[in-house]
Amino acid sequence: MQVIASIFDMQSTAENLRSKDRLIGLVPTMGALHEGHLSLIRLAKERADTVIVSVFVNPTQFGPSEDYTNYPRDLGRDLDLCEKAGADLVFTPAVEEMYPKGFSTYVSEELISKPLCGISRPAHFRGVTTVVAKLFNIVRPDLAVFGQKDAQQIAVIKKMVNDLHFCVDIVTAPTVREPDGLAMSSRNRYLTATQRGEALVISQALHKAKEMVESGVHNTDRLIAEATHLMGNRRRVRVIYASIVDRCTMEAVREVLPGKAMMAIAAWVDEVRLIDNILL
Ligand code: PAF
Repeated sequence: MQVIASIFDMQSTAENLRSKDRLIGLVPTMGALHEGHLSLIRLAKERADTVIVSVFVNPTQFGPSEDYTNYPRDLGRDLDLCEKAGADLVFTPAVEEMYPKGFSTYVSEELISKPLCGISRPAHFRGVTTVVAKLFNIVRPDLAVFGQKDAQQIAVIKKMVNDLHFCVDIVTAPTVREPDGLAMSSRNRYLTATQRGEALVISQALHKAKEMVESGVHNTDRLIAEATHLMGNRRRVRVIYASIVDRCTMEAVREVLPGKAMMAIAAWVDEVRLIDNILL
Protein backbone atom coordinates (compact mmCIF):
# COMPACT_ATOMS: atom_id res chain seq x y z
CA MET A 1 0.00 0.00 0.00
CA GLN A 2 1.34 3.36 -1.07
CA VAL A 3 1.15 6.47 1.15
CA ILE A 4 1.23 9.88 -0.54
CA ALA A 5 1.23 13.22 1.23
CA SER A 6 1.91 15.71 -1.58
CA ILE A 7 -0.97 16.99 -3.72
CA PHE A 8 1.22 17.02 -6.83
CA ASP A 9 2.28 13.37 -6.29
CA MET A 10 -1.35 12.36 -5.70
CA GLN A 11 -2.46 14.11 -8.90
CA SER A 12 0.24 12.49 -11.01
CA THR A 13 -0.29 9.02 -9.49
CA ALA A 14 -4.04 9.25 -10.15
CA GLU A 15 -3.36 10.49 -13.69
CA ASN A 16 -1.09 7.50 -14.26
CA LEU A 17 -3.80 5.10 -12.96
CA ARG A 18 -6.37 6.69 -15.28
CA SER A 19 -4.02 6.31 -18.25
CA LYS A 20 -4.02 2.54 -17.50
CA ASP A 21 -7.85 2.55 -17.44
CA ARG A 22 -7.95 1.73 -13.74
CA LEU A 23 -11.33 2.55 -12.15
CA ILE A 24 -10.53 4.70 -9.11
CA GLY A 25 -12.61 4.55 -5.90
CA LEU A 26 -12.08 7.22 -3.25
CA VAL A 27 -13.01 6.88 0.43
CA PRO A 28 -12.66 10.30 2.08
CA THR A 29 -12.09 10.09 5.86
CA MET A 30 -10.82 12.16 8.73
CA GLY A 31 -8.95 9.16 10.15
CA ALA A 32 -9.69 7.67 13.59
CA LEU A 33 -10.90 4.75 11.53
CA HIS A 34 -13.39 2.20 12.82
CA GLU A 35 -15.31 -0.72 11.36
CA GLY A 36 -17.71 1.73 9.64
CA HIS A 37 -14.85 3.21 7.59
CA LEU A 38 -13.46 -0.24 6.84
CA SER A 39 -16.84 -1.26 5.39
CA LEU A 40 -16.58 1.77 3.04
CA ILE A 41 -13.12 0.66 1.92
CA ARG A 42 -14.36 -2.90 1.31
CA LEU A 43 -17.32 -1.62 -0.69
CA ALA A 44 -15.01 0.61 -2.75
CA LYS A 45 -12.81 -2.44 -3.35
CA GLU A 46 -15.80 -4.35 -4.79
CA ARG A 47 -16.61 -1.51 -7.20
CA ALA A 48 -13.21 -0.09 -8.22
CA ASP A 49 -9.81 -1.37 -9.40
CA THR A 50 -7.81 0.97 -7.19
CA VAL A 51 -9.01 2.20 -3.80
CA ILE A 52 -7.63 5.46 -2.46
CA VAL A 53 -8.42 6.45 1.14
CA SER A 54 -7.85 10.05 2.15
CA VAL A 55 -7.04 10.74 5.79
CA PHE A 56 -7.35 14.44 6.50
CA VAL A 57 -8.82 16.16 9.55
CA ASN A 58 -10.45 19.06 7.76
CA PRO A 59 -10.29 22.25 9.83
CA THR A 60 -12.91 24.14 7.80
CA GLN A 61 -15.76 21.83 8.82
CA PHE A 62 -15.27 22.42 12.57
CA GLY A 63 -16.88 25.38 14.32
CA PRO A 64 -14.76 27.61 16.60
CA SER A 65 -15.90 25.80 19.77
CA GLU A 66 -15.73 22.30 18.27
CA ASP A 67 -13.20 19.50 18.71
CA TYR A 68 -10.77 20.15 15.77
CA THR A 69 -7.67 20.30 17.97
CA ASN A 70 -8.66 17.31 20.06
CA TYR A 71 -10.06 15.24 17.18
CA PRO A 72 -8.45 11.78 17.54
CA ARG A 73 -5.41 11.35 15.28
CA ASP A 74 -3.43 8.11 14.96
CA LEU A 75 -2.04 7.81 11.44
CA GLY A 76 0.02 4.68 12.15
CA ARG A 77 -3.07 2.77 13.29
CA ASP A 78 -5.17 4.17 10.41
CA LEU A 79 -2.58 3.04 7.82
CA ASP A 80 -2.55 -0.45 9.31
CA LEU A 81 -6.35 -0.67 9.17
CA CYS A 82 -6.46 0.70 5.59
CA GLU A 83 -3.97 -1.91 4.44
CA LYS A 84 -5.89 -4.74 6.15
CA ALA A 85 -9.16 -3.56 4.59
CA GLY A 86 -7.60 -3.65 1.11
CA ALA A 87 -6.79 0.01 0.33
CA ASP A 88 -4.19 0.47 -2.40
CA LEU A 89 -3.16 3.99 -1.54
CA VAL A 90 -3.63 6.42 1.34
CA PHE A 91 -3.54 10.14 0.69
CA THR A 92 -2.52 12.17 3.76
CA PRO A 93 -2.22 15.81 2.70
CA ALA A 94 -0.91 18.41 5.14
CA VAL A 95 -3.26 21.12 6.28
CA GLU A 96 -0.76 23.77 5.10
CA GLU A 97 -0.91 22.40 1.57
CA MET A 98 -4.69 21.96 1.49
CA TYR A 99 -5.30 25.42 2.95
CA PRO A 100 -2.22 27.56 2.24
CA LYS A 101 -2.00 31.10 3.58
CA GLY A 102 -4.43 33.27 1.64
CA PHE A 103 -6.84 30.43 0.76
CA SER A 104 -10.17 32.11 0.02
CA THR A 105 -12.33 29.91 -2.23
CA TYR A 106 -15.13 27.81 -0.75
CA VAL A 107 -17.86 25.58 -2.15
CA SER A 108 -21.21 26.11 -0.49
CA GLU A 109 -24.47 24.21 -1.03
CA GLU A 110 -27.23 26.56 0.02
CA LEU A 111 -30.37 24.46 0.49
CA ILE A 112 -29.95 20.91 1.77
CA SER A 113 -27.17 22.00 4.10
CA LYS A 114 -29.42 24.43 6.00
CA PRO A 115 -31.76 22.26 8.17
CA LEU A 116 -30.82 19.57 10.73
CA CYS A 117 -27.06 19.82 11.46
CA GLY A 118 -26.90 23.05 9.43
CA ILE A 119 -28.80 24.88 12.20
CA SER A 120 -26.41 24.12 15.04
CA ARG A 121 -23.27 23.85 12.83
CA PRO A 122 -23.76 26.70 10.33
CA ALA A 123 -20.34 26.48 8.62
CA HIS A 124 -19.96 22.69 8.79
CA PHE A 125 -21.24 21.67 5.35
CA ARG A 126 -19.39 24.49 3.59
CA GLY A 127 -16.21 22.95 5.02
CA VAL A 128 -17.29 19.47 3.90
CA THR A 129 -18.22 20.48 0.35
CA THR A 130 -15.03 22.53 0.02
CA VAL A 131 -12.72 19.72 1.08
CA VAL A 132 -14.62 17.04 -0.84
CA ALA A 133 -14.54 19.21 -4.00
CA LYS A 134 -10.78 19.63 -3.51
CA LEU A 135 -10.30 15.87 -3.04
CA PHE A 136 -12.41 15.16 -6.13
CA ASN A 137 -10.30 17.60 -8.15
CA ILE A 138 -7.01 16.16 -6.88
CA VAL A 139 -7.89 12.46 -7.27
CA ARG A 140 -10.60 12.65 -9.96
CA PRO A 141 -12.12 9.36 -8.77
CA ASP A 142 -14.72 7.41 -10.76
CA LEU A 143 -16.65 6.76 -7.56
CA ALA A 144 -16.57 7.89 -3.95
CA VAL A 145 -18.03 6.02 -0.99
CA PHE A 146 -19.66 7.68 2.04
CA GLY A 147 -21.57 6.22 5.00
CA GLN A 148 -25.33 6.47 5.43
CA LYS A 149 -24.81 7.56 9.06
CA ASP A 150 -23.94 11.01 7.65
CA ALA A 151 -27.12 11.08 5.56
CA GLN A 152 -27.28 14.88 5.28
CA GLN A 153 -23.62 14.99 4.24
CA ILE A 154 -24.35 12.52 1.43
CA ALA A 155 -27.39 14.48 0.24
CA VAL A 156 -25.34 17.71 0.22
CA ILE A 157 -22.43 16.07 -1.64
CA LYS A 158 -24.77 14.52 -4.22
CA LYS A 159 -26.31 17.95 -4.81
CA MET A 160 -22.85 19.52 -5.20
CA VAL A 161 -21.82 16.80 -7.66
CA ASN A 162 -24.97 17.38 -9.67
CA ASP A 163 -24.90 21.19 -9.55
CA LEU A 164 -21.18 21.48 -10.36
CA HIS A 165 -20.98 18.60 -12.90
CA PHE A 166 -18.40 16.50 -11.11
CA CYS A 167 -17.94 13.19 -12.97
CA VAL A 168 -18.08 10.91 -9.96
CA ASP A 169 -20.60 8.33 -8.73
CA ILE A 170 -21.54 8.78 -5.09
CA VAL A 171 -21.98 5.38 -3.45
CA THR A 172 -23.77 5.09 -0.09
CA ALA A 173 -22.74 2.35 2.34
CA PRO A 174 -25.10 1.22 5.14
CA THR A 175 -24.48 2.39 8.72
CA VAL A 176 -22.39 -0.07 10.70
CA ARG A 177 -23.63 -0.59 14.28
CA GLU A 178 -22.18 -2.10 17.43
CA PRO A 179 -24.00 -5.33 18.43
CA ASP A 180 -26.19 -3.29 20.84
CA GLY A 181 -27.24 -0.87 18.08
CA LEU A 182 -24.97 2.15 18.69
CA ALA A 183 -23.93 3.58 15.31
CA MET A 184 -20.15 3.47 14.88
CA SER A 185 -18.53 6.89 15.07
CA SER A 186 -15.04 8.20 15.69
CA ARG A 187 -16.55 10.24 18.53
CA ASN A 188 -17.77 7.11 20.40
CA ARG A 189 -14.28 6.81 21.83
CA TYR A 190 -14.95 9.95 23.89
CA LEU A 191 -17.83 8.20 25.74
CA THR A 192 -17.41 6.75 29.23
CA ALA A 193 -19.21 3.45 29.92
CA THR A 194 -22.11 5.33 31.56
CA GLN A 195 -22.41 7.82 28.71
CA ARG A 196 -22.23 5.01 26.18
CA GLY A 197 -25.08 3.24 27.97
CA GLU A 198 -27.20 6.39 27.73
CA ALA A 199 -26.19 7.01 24.08
CA LEU A 200 -27.91 3.75 23.15
CA VAL A 201 -31.25 5.51 23.51
CA ILE A 202 -30.60 7.30 20.19
CA SER A 203 -30.67 4.11 18.10
CA GLN A 204 -33.46 2.74 20.30
CA ALA A 205 -35.58 5.82 19.56
CA LEU A 206 -34.93 5.42 15.82
CA HIS A 207 -35.85 1.74 15.88
CA LYS A 208 -38.98 2.48 17.90
CA ALA A 209 -40.06 4.97 15.21
CA LYS A 210 -39.46 2.39 12.50
CA GLU A 211 -41.53 -0.20 14.40
CA MET A 212 -44.36 2.33 14.79
CA VAL A 213 -44.28 3.07 11.06
CA GLU A 214 -44.39 -0.65 10.32
CA SER A 215 -47.41 -0.98 12.59
CA GLY A 216 -49.21 1.75 10.64
CA VAL A 217 -48.36 5.08 12.34
CA HIS A 218 -47.45 7.59 9.62
CA ASN A 219 -48.03 10.87 11.41
CA THR A 220 -44.60 12.38 11.97
CA ASP A 221 -45.65 14.45 15.03
CA ARG A 222 -46.57 11.23 16.86
CA LEU A 223 -43.37 9.49 15.82
CA ILE A 224 -41.18 12.41 16.86
CA ALA A 225 -43.05 12.81 20.17
CA GLU A 226 -42.41 9.14 21.03
CA ALA A 227 -38.70 9.34 20.12
CA THR A 228 -38.25 12.57 22.07
CA HIS A 229 -40.07 11.09 25.06
CA LEU A 230 -37.77 8.03 25.07
CA MET A 231 -34.64 10.20 24.91
CA GLY A 232 -36.03 12.52 27.59
CA ASN A 233 -35.73 9.65 30.07
CA ARG A 234 -31.92 9.78 29.88
CA ARG A 235 -30.30 12.33 32.18
CA ARG A 236 -27.14 12.82 30.09
CA VAL A 237 -28.87 13.05 26.70
CA ARG A 238 -29.90 16.45 25.31
CA VAL A 239 -31.67 16.27 21.97
CA ILE A 240 -30.44 18.79 19.37
CA TYR A 241 -33.02 17.65 16.83
CA ALA A 242 -35.25 14.66 16.13
CA SER A 243 -36.78 15.17 12.70
CA ILE A 244 -38.48 13.19 9.98
CA VAL A 245 -37.35 14.46 6.61
CA ASP A 246 -37.36 13.70 2.92
CA ARG A 247 -34.24 11.57 2.24
CA CYS A 248 -33.10 13.73 -0.69
CA THR A 249 -34.00 17.29 0.31
CA MET A 250 -33.76 16.98 4.12
CA GLU A 251 -37.01 18.98 4.36
CA ALA A 252 -39.36 18.03 7.19
CA VAL A 253 -42.37 15.94 6.13
CA ARG A 254 -45.76 15.59 7.87
CA GLU A 255 -46.55 12.02 6.76
CA VAL A 256 -44.20 9.10 6.27
CA LEU A 257 -44.41 7.96 2.66
CA PRO A 258 -42.84 4.53 2.09
CA GLY A 259 -39.31 4.69 0.66
CA LYS A 260 -39.06 8.49 0.94
CA ALA A 261 -38.65 9.47 4.59
CA MET A 262 -35.88 9.20 7.14
CA MET A 263 -35.75 9.97 10.85
CA ALA A 264 -32.59 11.84 11.85
CA ILE A 265 -31.44 12.55 15.38
CA ALA A 266 -28.59 14.62 16.77
CA ALA A 267 -28.00 14.69 20.50
CA TRP A 268 -25.44 15.63 23.07
CA VAL A 269 -24.48 12.88 25.45
CA ASP A 270 -22.93 15.20 28.03
CA GLU A 271 -20.29 16.96 25.87
CA VAL A 272 -20.19 14.38 23.04
CA ARG A 273 -22.27 15.20 19.97
CA LEU A 274 -23.68 12.15 18.19
CA ILE A 275 -25.86 11.74 15.10
CA ASP A 276 -27.78 8.79 13.70
CA ASN A 277 -30.67 8.13 11.34
CA ILE A 278 -32.95 5.42 10.05
CA LEU A 279 -34.79 5.02 6.77
CA LEU A 280 -38.54 4.72 7.41
O1 PAF B 1 -17.39 12.17 6.89
C1 PAF B 1 -16.24 12.61 7.13
O2 PAF B 1 -15.40 11.97 7.77
C2 PAF B 1 -15.86 13.99 6.60
O3 PAF B 1 -16.93 14.87 6.69
C3 PAF B 1 -15.29 13.97 5.18
C4 PAF B 1 -16.32 13.50 4.17
C5 PAF B 1 -14.08 13.05 5.14
C6 PAF B 1 -14.83 15.37 4.77
O4 PAF B 1 -13.83 15.85 5.63
